[in-house]
Amino acid sequence: MVRVPRWAAWRRAAAASLLLTATSPLAAAYELDPNSTESVTTIAKQMAEDMLSYYTGDKPGGTPGLLPDPYYWWEAGAMMGALVDYWYYTKDEEYNDLVTKGLLFQVGDTNDYMPRNQTLTEGNDDQGFWGLAVMSAAEYNFPNPPADKPQWLGLAQAVFNTQAARWDTEHCNGGLRWQIFSWNNGYDYKNSISQACFFALGARLALYTGNQTYADWAVKTWDWMVGVDFIDKYWRVLDGAHTGKNCTDIVPYQFSYNAGGFILGAAAMYNYTEDPVWKDRLDNLVEGAKVFFTGPNKDIMTEVACESVNRCNLDQQSFKAYLSRWLAAITKWAPHTYDVVMPYLRASAVAAAKQCTGGKNGRLCGLKWTTGEFDDNTGVGQQMAAMEVTLSCIIKDRGPPVTHDSGGTSKGDPNSGGGDMGRNTPKPPTFKPITAGDTAGAAILTAAVILAMIAGMFWIFLDESSDKTPLQQVRGFHDSTTAHFAALAAGGGGAAAFLRRRMGDDFDEKNGATVASIRAIADKRQNTDEQLHGRSLKNIHTIRIIKPGSVS
Ligand SMILES: *[C@@H]1O[C@H](CO)[C@@H](O)[C@H](O)[C@H]1NC(C)=O
Ligand SMILES: *[C@@H]1O[C@H](CO)[C@@H](O)[C@H](O)[C@H]1NC(C)=O
Ligand SMILES: *[C@@H]1O[C@H](CO)[C@@H](O)[C@H](O)[C@H]1NC(C)=O
Ligand SMILES: *[C@@H]1O[C@H](CO)[C@@H](O)[C@H](O)[C@H]1NC(C)=O
Ligand SMILES: *[C@@H]1O[C@H](CO)[C@@H](O)[C@H](O)[C@H]1NC(C)=O
Repeated sequence: MVRVPRWAAWRRAAAASLLLTATSPLAAAYELDPNSTESVTTIAKQMAEDMLSYYTGDKPGGTPGLLPDPYYWWEAGAMMGALVDYWYYTKDEEYNDLVTKGLLFQVGDTNDYMPRNQTLTEGNDDQGFWGLAVMSAAEYNFPNPPADKPQWLGLAQAVFNTQAARWDTEHCNGGLRWQIFSWNNGYDYKNSISQACFFALGARLALYTGNQTYADWAVKTWDWMVGVDFIDKYWRVLDGAHTGKNCTDIVPYQFSYNAGGFILGAAAMYNYTEDPVWKDRLDNLVEGAKVFFTGPNKDIMTEVACESVNRCNLDQQSFKAYLSRWLAAITKWAPHTYDVVMPYLRASAVAAAKQCTGGKNGRLCGLKWTTGEFDDNTGVGQQMAAMEVTLSCIIKDRGPPVTHDSGGTSKGDPNSGGGDMGRNTPKPPTFKPITAGDTAGAAILTAAVILAMIAGMFWIFLDESSDKTPLQQVRGFHDSTTAHFAALAAGGGGAAAFLRRRMGDDFDEKNGATVASIRAIADKRQNTDEQLHGRSLKNIHTIRIIKPGSVS
């Protein structure tokens, strides 16, 4: 949705940055030599620095482990994982303290990454990304927290335990729901990334601890994914489906992180079991993931479902980071994949680095790696993805992940996460003073959500380019709603185009309820040129309005 004042501001910023580019002596593109450790670490260091230029959690008044609006909580967890990787690859300890603080600050009351402040939006996948970050910390022997603090392995186990308790056999024969809390939009959706995080975490915990129970859960998750056809006979990992339809209304988009998560878990399972069945699954998934590589030689990583149509939302802008991270990781657990994936990672890394010529410092990375040119689409995800794919080039120089029996030092707790087990209603956020007991607090919260929902619906269907006044448009609300659901059901191009006009780029399934208030906050913060492209909204893991046929 084009908001006129924002575009005016954007034009001013664009003019200013043109001026800057013209006079700036900087802006020499990175020329990455993927076979040189020095080249990789030097460039990754600058990419990390630029990624952290968005982070305020280490600044006075900032909250450790949070990225500023509009970034979701989960992406900060993903970024902490990226920085654990950064240390593993480069041995640069510069950010270790920042990472430890961030990872520990967000653990929540019961040390399982369910902090009260996030209950408005936290899904299983969001929690999963924090779980995967601490799992990496355990596997790489990232410096352990002080003894009186929760430990990496125990935290990963807590995430696993709370999720296993949420396995839902009532609908679709099993699987995790997207959302944890029943009041959140998306509670009726079962999505692949939630299963992918749980699957990969289970497989890795089995490998690390040797405890077969984790592997049993990984097997169960895999079987369910195949059973509902989220992993189909072409080894495509599709996005998810709804409980109301017994998970048969599959949303067919392929996102790189869904495939990546299953590739990662399959490699860990192969290493754990040494069973050729898992090798076969892994190899097929890797083969299937070639869909994410395009360009003249079909070897440059691309978020195919959204890049070509310029529709990658804030979350999706980071997905290539995880596919990069996980394709590199599997070369340790399944060394036979090294020769298969490395040419893709090297080519992608060179292409990613080449386009990082943006921003005032002349080296911010854009989103697309295939064009050879900076596409003026910057952010945390773009920096993270470029950094991870760059780092992946030197995976051979680095040791394998440790386990309990091969040098791992992180302390576990098989029963961690107990207090949150099976809970599907949130505790109130900490910023809400609860004086008259939880009941009153919950009532206030519910009222706030209902209000936000009404406001959100109003905003979603408000067409700013319309000649009608907002009130007139509200009267036409019913029609829009009907059209909206019809379009979703039909998934047709014409209907989708209609919706795009009506709702702009930011149709937001997960946060329809709160989008208006978030929008209001985000609007006040519109003062950096990175945020002027209408990408300021909180987004979701799934956009459904994508040009049909963009995924092969
Ligand atoms: C890097 O090394 C690989 C394997 O030895 C080789 O195939 C590739 O051509 C090299 N790439 C560059 C850019 O030198
Ligand atoms: C729902 O789907 C599962 C397979 O995913 C099937 O076993 C089950 O019978 C279906 N339930 C209904 C009510 O159709
Ligand atoms: C399992 O991982 C270890 C550590 O990276 C590796 O040495 C071993 O070869 C792997 N096993 C298999 C079956 O690939
Ligand atoms: C293995 O993991 C399961 C699931 O978390 C746990 O209940 C069990 O106690 C663990 N077993 C051992 C020996 O740690
Ligand atoms: C939760 O939000 C409050 C108020 O903004 C803040 O003071 C606190 O540090 C936050 N806690 C976490 C874990 O982010």
